[in-house]
Amino acid sequence: MSTVSIILTSYNKPKFVGKAIEGILNQTYPDFELWLMDDNSNEETQQVIASYLNDQRIRYFRSNITEISERAKSIRYAVLINKALESCQGKYISYATDDNVYYPERLERMIHMLETNPEINIVYSSSKVVFLDKEDKLKNTMHRIAKSVTTVASCQVDHCSVMHRADILPVIYQRWGSYWDEDPQFYFIGDARFFWRLCHYWSFYPLSEILDDNYMTTESLHTQLKSQEENPLLQLLPEQRTCKELRDHLRSLWSGK
Ligand code: TYD
Ligand code: MG
Repeated sequence: MSTVSIILTSYNKPKFVGKAIEGILNQTYPDFELWLMDDNSNEETQQVIASYLNDQRIRYFRSNITEISERAKSIRYAVLINKALESCQGKYISYATDDNVYYPERLERMIHMLETNPEINIVYSSSKVVFLDKEDKLKNTMHRIAKSVTTVASCQVDHCSVMHRADILPVIYQRWGSYWDEDPQFYFIGDARFFWRLCHYWSFYPLSEILDDNYMTTESLHTQLKSQEENPLLQLLPEQRTCKELRDHLRSLWSGK
C-alpha cells in the first residue's frame, strides 16, 4: 500500500501529458501510486502515455467512450476520478490533470503538513497558472495564492493543488451517493462542486509555496468556452450552474453556525 494515491485525468493533450506524468515520477517523495486515467484519447496521446507504462508505480485505465454525446452526459473527469477512488489504496489522495506539472517537492510538503497536523484533513498550495497562445507560447501568468484557512474553497482552489485524507471520503459517499458529482450542469466547475461537498465538513489549510504549474492551453475547456470557435461538446452541455451559487451557499452554511 502506498502512502499517497495520485489521480491524473487525461484526454487529448499529447504535448502536455508527458510533462504532467514526469512531474509526478520525479517527486522527492517516493511512496506513491499514480492512477493514470485516460478518457480514450487520440493515438498521438496514447503513444506518449504508452512510453511511461513500464513504471511500476503507474496504474493505467483507458475508458471506451467514443461519442461526443456520451461525453456530454457526465463530467468526464469526475467519472474517471470516481472510478480511481473505488480502487486506490493511499492514505492520502492527490489530484492531477494532463496539463498540470507538479513541482518536485509537492507531495513531500503536503504529506509533511498532514502527518504533523492530525487535525487537518485537506491541504492546498499556491499555484502558477500559465496562459499559452495557439503556438503554446507564453501569453501571461497568474499566481493563485494559498493564504488562508477556508471553508469556501469552491472556485478559489484548483483540484491540482489539493491533497486530502482518504478516510474522509466515506462521509461524502454516504451523504451524496458518490464522491465527485458527475452532473454535467457543473462541467466547468466539477472540482468546485466536489469542494462544496467537502466544505460542508472540513476546512482547507494553506501551504503558501507554489507547488504546481497549471497550463491553460487553447485546447482547455475553459479557453474554448471563451473563444468564438465552435466546440461540439460545449454545444451539447446543459445550462451551467455557477461558482456564485456554490460559494453563497457555503457562506450561508457557515455564517449560521
Ligand atoms: P481541460 O480541457 O484541461 O479543461 P480545463 O479548462 O478545465 O482545464 O479538461 C479538464 C480535465 O478533464 C482534463 O484532465 C481532461 C479531462 N477530460 C476527460 O477526461 N474527458 C473529456 O472528454 C474531456 C473533454 C476532458
Ligand atoms: Mg486543463
